[in-house]
Amino acid sequence: MKILVIGSGGREHALTWKLGQSADAERIFCAPGNAGTAENAENVSISAGDLKALVRFAKENRIDLTVVGPDDPLAAGIVDLLAAEKLRAFGPTKSAARIEASKIFAKELMRSQKIPTAEARTFSDSSEALHYCEKLEFPVVIKADGLALGKGVIVAADRVAARSAIDEMMNQGRFGDAGRRVVIEDFLRGTECSLHALVDGSNYRLLESARDHKRALDGDQGPNTGGMGAFSPANNWTKKLQSKFETEIMQPLLRGFMQKGITFHGLLYPGLIITSEGARVLEFNCRFGDPETQALLPRMKSDLLPLLEATIDGNLSKCTIEWDTRAAVTVVLASGGYPGKYETGKTISGLDDAANVEDVQIFHAGTKRVEGEVKTAGGRILAVTALGSTLEAARARAYDAVSRIHFVHCHYRRDIALSVTN
Ligand code: GLY
Repeated sequence: MKILVIGSGGREHALTWKLGQSADAERIFCAPGNAGTAENAENVSISAGDLKALVRFAKENRIDLTVVGPDDPLAAGIVDLLAAEKLRAFGPTKSAARIEASKIFAKELMRSQKIPTAEARTFSDSSEALHYCEKLEFPVVIKADGLALGKGVIVAADRVAARSAIDEMMNQGRFGDAGRRVVIEDFLRGTECSLHALVDGSNYRLLESARDHKRALDGDQGPNTGGMGAFSPANNWTKKLQSKFETEIMQPLLRGFMQKGITFHGLLYPGLIITSEGARVLEFNCRFGDPETQALLPRMKSDLLPLLEATIDGNLSKCTIEWDTRAAVTVVLASGGYPGKYETGKTISGLDDAANVEDVQIFHAGTKRVEGEVKTAGGRILAVTALGSTLEAARARAYDAVSRIHFVHCHYRRDIALSVTN
């Protein structure tokens, strides 16, 4: 089977790595990929945003399966465009991808199915939103309706911060059209947990639980990032929570899709917060998480390819997923300054030495090979995953491997899977 993976991050390297282990994967392409995907796939220099060129490539190369990594091409309808050419793709249609691409759509769907989530109001008029802020207790959460590269969620500690977030999003166009409408919701206290589910229209299969660390600095300080590390299983996830999650969140969600005439095929990843009253949905994502995928896939013993196919074909009821019982810890190495300004083009050394640490897998993100050397080429550079019999053992291995990798201005958190209280 010829497979095309779209994207260039650590998630896509993990996907190409895992799919490459499948006996049915004859050839894997990655567009545009990175220096790591080049090791187990053929990189194609088409950006994840160039939908026309991606479809043309898939058509001309008779790609049997396209796996879409990031949210933007899904929201822009790449799966629909591929389907129009009779090309198979893993991921939701444009209409189903609204569950991530529009916070307002997701909130309304949750409300219609009584899915536990924060109380919220939605606004398309900034003066109404500002007026509403006057009577609120703080903190509150202000979310841009659309996709904003993971930066569209602001926790406003007080009225001044709330006013400024609303003004920036709605009046000054900080996130373009994505911020013209906003959701203002209650701030929920608790610990976060990421659950991934393969959804085939009517059935789903849950992956193991995971947690990510979104803040840039140790102790959950600093700005939010795409994710500075992850671990699996999540230490705050219980069988009881899972059973309620299925009856109160997953099943009603699928019912909600059905009532709207939407069939969701792909990966659905609700970001949850575990409060004193149980799990609440913070957001829905419609693609694999990054860096959760880099922690999850090394634990997955089953072949991923038939699972993706069953998801597309509506056959998940026949599938089970086998897992390694060991824990996985993933540490992200980033360019100094990320998520703000950073420099690129730094030589990365020590990759082979790090890869020699037992049960360690190194996934590339912002890297590229230049004249035989691997150089930094983005904000998040590498995701180093280790397996261990306990979370502590996995953590020690991951940091052993990380300590062997060097590049100028390398930044990583020292407390991944350690400071797990929030
Ligand atoms: N780990 C956060 C995300 O993938 O959106």
